[in-house]
Amino acid sequence: MNKMKKLIAYYSRAGNNYVGDKIMNLPVGNTEVAAKMIQKLTGSDIFRIYTIKDYPADYNETTEVAKQELRQNDRPELTGHADNMVDYSVIYLGYPNWWGTMPMAVYTFLEAYDFSGKTIIPFCTHEGSGMGRSESDIKKLCSDANVLKGLPIRGGSVQGAESDIADWLRKLGEIE
Ligand SMILES: Cc1cc2nc3c(=O)[nH]c(=O)nc-3n(C[C@H](O)[C@H](O)[C@H](O)COP(=O)(O)O)c2cc1C
Repeated sequence: MNKMKKLIAYYSRAGNNYVGDKIMNLPVGNTEVAAKMIQKLTGSDIFRIYTIKDYPADYNETTEVAKQELRQNDRPELTGHADNMVDYSVIYLGYPNWWGTMPMAVYTFLEAYDFSGKTIIPFCTHEGSGMGRSESDIKKLCSDANVLKGLPIRGGSVQGAESDIADWLRKLGEIE
């Protein structure tokens, strides 16, 4: 049994979003649904990455703000700090694909801690772009971490993704 301490850290934006082929309102964000499934399967601790400034309620307006943040290489300020990061050896890092990579808030998060020697296991919800370039962006930000191949999950299919998530965790040796 693997007794290393593990943390699920994720960013997710509930509300007005593009799912399948239409705009709808998600009471719980897709990445949060996936994060909770991983928590249920692994029993890991969980930390939600929140920005101080909210994104617009409207999906299209949010895509514009996010595009601008990416262009400017912004680091949106976060509301909180994960305690005792030093104790964790494995970090499951979850985020939606925004413009082919992670939301800039996840960049802020990754720069706030020392991940050297830790294993980062990414998972990403998306509507067609998969992991995009997020895995190589994580490697650039955390060059001394062991960044494993991530799991892309279709946002619109996340409610039925638990068995795929379990298979992935089993292949990684994270669960039995
Ligand atoms: C600002 C923004 C940008 C997005 N860019 C992409 C993209 O480039 N490729 C893609 O497949 N999906 C994109 N999406 C769709 C999200 O990745 C998808 O809806 C995801 O499941 C949302 O997760 P969440 O509910 O946890 O925030 C974008 C959504 C938003 C809000």
